[in-house]
Amino acid sequence: MEIFIETERLIIRPLSMADEQGMFEMDSDPEVHKFLGKKPYTSIEQSRENIAYVLSQYRDYSIGRWAVLEKGTNDFVGWTGYKFMEGPVNAHTNYYDFGYRLMRKFWGKGYATESGRASLQYGIEKLGYKDIYGMTDINNGASRHILEKLGFRFIENFAYDARPDWRATGELTTWYKWMP
Ligand SMILES: CC(C)(COP(=O)(O)OP(=O)(O)OC[C@H]1O[C@@H](n2cnc3c(N)ncnc32)[C@H](O)[C@@H]1OP(=O)(O)O)[C@@H](O)C(=O)NCCC(=O)NCCS
Repeated sequence: MEIFIETERLIIRPLSMADEQGMFEMDSDPEVHKFLGKKPYTSIEQSRENIAYVLSQYRDYSIGRWAVLEKGTNDFVGWTGYKFMEGPVNAHTNYYDFGYRLMRKFWGKGYATESGRASLQYGIEKLGYKDIYGMTDINNGASRHILEKLGFRFIENFAYDARPDWRATGELTTWYKWMP
């Protein structure tokens, strides 16, 4: 995984097992999981399994979520970018899902937008991706706003039956397609 992107304030690089503490701090925060099924991690082993899954995506599909770090401090901020989805999700198979997740202490600084814009552009221009989708809880206003700012268009709402944890809130999931 050769990816290395520098933005004005951030660095984007492959995730590695060395990121386990940052990933656990992020995913054990109930606020972070408010729109992700309300099941924050309780053990660092879950973060290790998550990173191992991302590494398997790098191996099998040459893609997977990327780590975001703050320039200067090198602090772990979260992840951004693509996940290859075999699916089916909302009747779609073999497509690229685009998303982001940041530690709460870094919210509200424009970091999700900045890292998202750069990684989206990398996938389109350098990797030639075309069929890019995003999905988020219907009530996740910040996430929906960012997708729309980056050129995603609302397609429909659906019930994410394949992931009951996501549906724990009883809410629908919104489905977006990148259509600048
Ligand atoms: C969603 C998340 C990535 C946003 O990160 P962030 O760095 O704070 O986002 P940014 O600062 O780049 O942008 C947030 C934008 O949403 C807007 N916003 C914030 N809350 C909002 C809300 N409730 N409704 C609508 N817009 C909202 C902000 O004003 C900002 O827009 P602007 O720059 O045009 O003013 C972060 O809150 C997070 O990691 N949440 C938990 C994980 C998650 O829900 N991920 C997405 C799931 S698919």
